[in-house]
Amino acid sequence: AKYTIVDQDTCIACGACGAAAPEIFDYNDEGIAFVLLDDNEGTAEVAEDLYDDLDDAMEGCPTDSIKVESSPCKVLVE
Ligand code: F3S
Repeated sequence: AKYTIVDQDTCIACGACGAAAPEIFDYNDEGIAFVLLDDNEGTAEVAEDLYDDLDDAMEGCPTDSIKVESSPCKVLVE
């Protein structure tokens, strides 16, 4: 299983992630990315057919702000 979350403290609103994975990432009013699936909680399992998009987004982020974990991310953060 894969879970993802955007580190909004390091995201520079470059916009690459939503282009690579529009079904996973969207942007707030400031252009900062968040995970559409769970409002950036990191608790929703990413569907397997989106893994390629997720990898592209993670690799394309210039600030490594996209975190991908095998268990719910928020648990690791707290
Ligand atoms: Fe931010 Fe990286 Fe996306 S800088 S807008 S999380 S590609």
